Amino acid sequence: MKYAVIYFTRSGTSRKIAEKIAKKLSVEPIEVTDNMDWDGALGYMRAAKHAMKNGAVAIQIHGQIGEADEYVVVSPMWCGKITPAIRKLLDEVPKEKVHLIVSSGGMNLKERDGYMSVLDIMKSKHNEDQLIEEFVGSLSA
Ligand SMILES: Cc1cc2nc3c(=O)[nH]c(=O)nc-3n(C[C@H](O)[C@H](O)[C@H](O)COP(=O)(O)O)c2cc1C
Repeated sequence: MKYAVIYFTRSGTSRKIAEKIAKKLSVEPIEVTDNMDWDGALGYMRAAKHAMKNGAVAIQIHGQIGEADEYVVVSPMWCGKITPAIRKLLDEVPKEKVHLIVSSGGMNLKERDGYMSVLDIMKSKHNEDQLIEEFVGSLSA
């Protein structure tokens, strides 16, 4: 099975998770960026507002995603949801081929329908490495 590991991050946690998974799968993680400024306190508020109203963003995918059989997509949680950039990515990557990993402070993602699988990695639980190990072990060779 050929996998692509794709992530969006604001503050680095999802990148770290994507890097760990990609290393175990022997692939390079692919970053998705958007056209917004989410930095600092103002950026945080902008992010929360944008997430709540399902605001649109333009994205750039920094790698080749076309040839994978399945996708591991890592998104931070913003206000209970995946980020606008990852929502936009799902226009190009079919959900039914996506293993979604949600990096959050402590909440579960509510909207889980349509994905191959959904895994919540919550900072409050301090079990990131164990969950990654189990997740990669669950993937088909
Ligand atoms: C705008 C915003 C909204 C957030 N909303 C939630 C939330 O609803 N529930 C939660 O558990 N964590 C929430 N968080 C925390 C992030 O999901 C968490 O810190 C995540 O690991 C950040 O990933 P990143 O470092 O890759 O950007 C929020 C963070 C931001 C910036």
